[in-house]
Amino acid sequence: MSHLIAPSLLSANFLNLEKDILMLNQSEADWFHLDVMDGVFVPNISFGFGIIEKIRKATSKTLDVHLMIVEPERYIERFKKAGADIISIHIEACRNPVETLRAIRSLNAKAGIVINPGTPVSMLSEVIAEADMVLIMSVNPGFGGQSFIPGTMGKIAELRYLIKSRGLNVLTEVDGGIDLQNAPDIIHAGVDILVAGNTIFASPDPAQTIQQLKNIC
Ligand code: DX5
Ligand code: ZN
Repeated sequence: MSHLIAPSLLSANFLNLEKDILMLNQSEADWFHLDVMDGVFVPNISFGFGIIEKIRKATSKTLDVHLMIVEPERYIERFKKAGADIISIHIEACRNPVETLRAIRSLNAKAGIVINPGTPVSMLSEVIAEADMVLIMSVNPGFGGQSFIPGTMGKIAELRYLIKSRGLNVLTEVDGGIDLQNAPDIIHAGVDILVAGNTIFASPDPAQTIQQLKNIC
């Protein structure tokens, strides 16, 4: 499969979100990446169910919901109800990731497992078979506009090896600090989905930037 682009709406204009959503709808963006932060798991608070419900009504594209919250198992049903297609939970934030991934799938959503920059790929060993997607954080979560951590490239290679050696069918996503300079290497490393916030929304022509990210081959 050729790679997908998932713009992170964290960097969108919340004073005129509709305008950015219309732009994304007409652009080559594949998914909407929605960053939910609770101010506990990460030192920032973003948005929750209400905003996601509104976004759901404004787009038919896939809603890729990245939960940066503690005890995500308490809220997955409500995120599904709000319109999430994919629900990703942090392995560091969850008491029983296997059970939670199964619960997400039982709601007919895709289940993602996320690891922070400081969490080794080996931590995924016992949970990866329960996931539809693995998200590797390439910045410490909490804020948009940070720089890509170079050590991520080694983790991508390790993850590809893990997936291949187990014969699994799991999507891979990378999130944080992706720009037009580092995107080719990330794509060539075999990543399926690239999340980008600042690179898209701070550029003079976001739709064109999405196209540029999409056209990398
Ligand atoms: C960080 C979020 C990311 C972030 C990406 O905690 O998970 O999705 O918004 O933004 P950029 O591309 O600006 O690093
Ligand atoms: Zn994210």
